[in-house]
Parts: sequence; C-alpha cells; structure tokens
Amino acid sequence: MDNIIVVNNSILLNSLTKLRDKNLKSSQFRKEVSNIAKILLFEALKNEETEMRRIQTPFVESDFPSLNENEYVLVPILRAGLPMMEGCLEILEDAKVGFLAIKRDETTLESKVYYERLPHLEEKTVIILDPMVATAGSITKAIGIIESHNPKKIISLNIVVSKVGTEKLSKFKNVKFYVGSAGEDLNDKGYIVPGIGDAGDRCFNTY
Ligand code: PRP
Ligand code: URA
Repeated sequence: MDNIIVVNNSILLNSLTKLRDKNLKSSQFRKEVSNIAKILLFEALKNEETEMRRIQTPFVESDFPSLNENEYVLVPILRAGLPMMEGCLEILEDAKVGFLAIKRDETTLESKVYYERLPHLEEKTVIILDPMVATAGSITKAIGIIESHNPKKIISLNIVVSKVGTEKLSKFKNVKFYVGSAGEDLNDKGYIVPGIGDAGDRCFNTY
C-alpha cells in the first residue's frame, strides 16, 4: 500500500475531529474541508521539481525556485470536492480546474458520472479532490476517465478512506493518494463509520 500516504499532521487531525461533529455548521464544515485539502496538497507537492524564475526583489534581480502552476489541473468531484478545490486554489492560484460530477445511487451504491468538463490533460499533473472514498466506486470512475486523457501524473487528495476503499486504492499503482484517515469501517448502507457523514449534504446544508 505504498501508494497511499496517510498524512500525519496534528492540524489536519484537529480539523478532521471538528468535521466528525454532527453539529458543525455547513459553513464551518466547508472551511475545515478546505483547510485539510491545503495540508494534503502541501504534503503531496512538497518535493515537486521547481524551475528557476527571474525576480526583481526590492534589492536585487536574481533567479528563484518556483512551480509552474499551469501544469497542475485540479479535478474536484462534485459536490463534496468543491470546498477542497477552494482551498487548493488559494495555494495554487494559477492551476487549471476540470470538473467531474459523480453521484452514487444510495440504494445500489452504483456511481454514475453525470457531468464531465475537463481541460487538456496531456503532460499535466492531475489532482483529484474528493473527501470520501467509501466503496471506491466513484473514484474508480474518476481515475478511469482521467487516465484515458493520458496525463503525466495523477495524485488524489482524500480526507477519509474506508478499509474496503483502502484495499481498492492500493491497486492503482500509478496514482498516489494523500489521505487524512484510512481503514475506517463501512456500514451496511455504504457509509463510512465513524467517518464524517454524507460529505456533499454536510457541505451544502441539504440533509
Ligand atoms: C460522495 C463522496 C464520494 C462518494 C464516495 O458523493 O463525495 O464521491 O460519495 O462513495 P463511494 O466511494 O462509495 O463511491 P455522493 O455520491 O454522495 O455525491 P454528492 O457529493 O453529490 O452528494
Ligand atoms: N459518501 C459520503 O459522503 N460519506 C460516506 O460516509 C460515504 C460515501
């Protein structure tokens, strides 16, 4: 399972504990999701190759390391990936964004893609954003679509991954997953326990 990195960070754990509180307001829920996304992003990109950029500082002109932010494509999975996108765009403000909308049927747990709007992905590093991996049906569909566009690299940021989900993700050897918590249980309705509930509904106050 060396493609799954559980990010051990006290600030992340503090935010995740807040998310688990069923009384957290939607506005606060989105804020904590966004905060965790930033921490996962820092970890995922901490060793990225930088290129030198000529900068005029207040004192001298010189070359300094920088990321080519245009090379990154954020792909939030609607709906719950949207607050993660907000957080990541605060860090990588020139990243491109593509959208995949995927909804799982709450009875059959089958995931269906109902909207797809992706920019050109060849030679790009794609960063999938979805807080929840339960049965892994939704992320499997997302990875399949993204892979078919031949990106340079695929990274996925996820906040809570079930035990079943962890096993499924371990098979995607070409994708690196940066996660807040892995190995949680799945109940008979397909929800992660303890988990954080229905992330889309909690983000957008629709439960
Ligand atoms: C949630 C979540 C994931 C999916 C995970 O989305 O954001 O995309 O469930 O479940 P899985 O691993 O079993 O596929 P949901 O289908 O509830 O859509 P929503 O965000 O629009 O409510
Ligand atoms: N999707 C969610 O939003 N939460 C779960 O616990 C499982 C799937």
